[in-house]
Amino acid sequence: MSAEPSLDAIDLTDASVWEQGAPHEWLDRLRTNDPVHWHEEPDGPGFWALTRHDDVRRVSTAPLEFSSYVGGPLRLDPPEDGLGQVRMIIIGMDPPEHRAFRSIVSKAFTPRMIARLEDSLRAETARVVAELRDRDHCDFVTDVAARIPMWSISELMGVPEADRHRLYELSHALIDDQDPEVAPTPETSTEASIEIFGYASEMAARERAHPSGSLTNVLLDAEVDGRKLTDIEFTLFFMFLIVAGNETTRTASSHGLLALIEHPDEHQRLVRDPTLVPNAVEEILRWEPPIHHFRRTATADLRIGDQPIAAGDKVLMWYAGANRDPAVFDDPHVFRADRSPNPQLSFGIGEHFCLGANLARLSLRLLFAELLQTIDDIELRSPPRRLHSNLINGIKEMQIGYRVRPSAG
Ligand code: HEM
Repeated sequence: MSAEPSLDAIDLTDASVWEQGAPHEWLDRLRTNDPVHWHEEPDGPGFWALTRHDDVRRVSTAPLEFSSYVGGPLRLDPPEDGLGQVRMIIIGMDPPEHRAFRSIVSKAFTPRMIARLEDSLRAETARVVAELRDRDHCDFVTDVAARIPMWSISELMGVPEADRHRLYELSHALIDDQDPEVAPTPETSTEASIEIFGYASEMAARERAHPSGSLTNVLLDAEVDGRKLTDIEFTLFFMFLIVAGNETTRTASSHGLLALIEHPDEHQRLVRDPTLVPNAVEEILRWEPPIHHFRRTATADLRIGDQPIAAGDKVLMWYAGANRDPAVFDDPHVFRADRSPNPQLSFGIGEHFCLGANLARLSLRLLFAELLQTIDDIELRSPPRRLHSNLINGIKEMQIGYRVRPSAG
């Protein structure tokens, strides 16, 4: 019998591996054999790869020890001139500055505020899903999953309908820049960010002239330490909210349907008992985290578990590893629509816990409730086309066939 290949052969930076689906066999081996694993990287100094639920929680809830500010939230250090900009976005800040910036928008995302959006979000979801009734197939990503998050973030930010599609394309090019089909050249994402910058200034001018009460308006009026946001701070905040609101919820919706197609018994269980939809949404998020990892940088000589970590070391939290940790989840590789409790970490945890989590959860619950009522016998017409990225767990295209339920009219 041949020995297992060494852990050093594991390369979590390789986007073409993630493009085939999260490498659970690798993540399991790391968690079992070396849960705080030193991982070399071809384009940097290396990083600690975390695959245990407990370790991700430990690092994510200690922002002063494990900083988002020092090296930003992404694996590769930004270029010298880029780091300054990353540090102006809340996801690249540490306390206490982070708290001040986060509180500008956190009021807009409380369960109470999101509940106010519920009726119109339900109506929009019903409209999008109703279009499926005229056919027996669609590309679920473009025809359904992409439309609802763009609609909700645009409503919140006050983006006029005519501009939404372009803004969606730009946010895609910006964040999915590892995929040559989405961003064929490095210039594509640079050009996208220049265009979004231009657009944000137009929005600012429009909102100043005719304040609409939107979140864009809130950003323009906000004060941090007794001063307004600078133009660049405003623009980066605007851009980040558009991108964060779009990519992730679309990904979760597409993976959610895929999980139901691949687990027909669980699908039928939901059809029989739609009160399980909120549990199913948590399980979908656990099963396929829309974001593969975020990064922190150690600010001092520290420990994670028994492993000493040196000041300046990079630490990557692999959410798919944490979400299938058998110390926390029974049968972690089994998809259970009714799993409870389900402390999945796909929204992060602690200081930077996803601001959009309430909105994302509501959107996903409404979408799956509507889909269950409207279509059945769902099947893949071809294998889903996945994004080439070690950051975003995206699906670019998912052609499905289905039967419209007679009761859906
Ligand atoms: C299923 C959907 C979503 C997932 C899986 C997700 C995931 C995440 C994760 C993992 C973080 C933590 C970052 C870190 O620890 O460094 C985060 C932060 C954030 N998310 Fe989400 N997100 C989703 C939807 C949204 C939506 C809809 C919005 C906005 C409308 C949003 C806005 C944000 C913001 C502003 C932050 C930064 C919070 C901070 O730094 O304090 N997200 N998200």
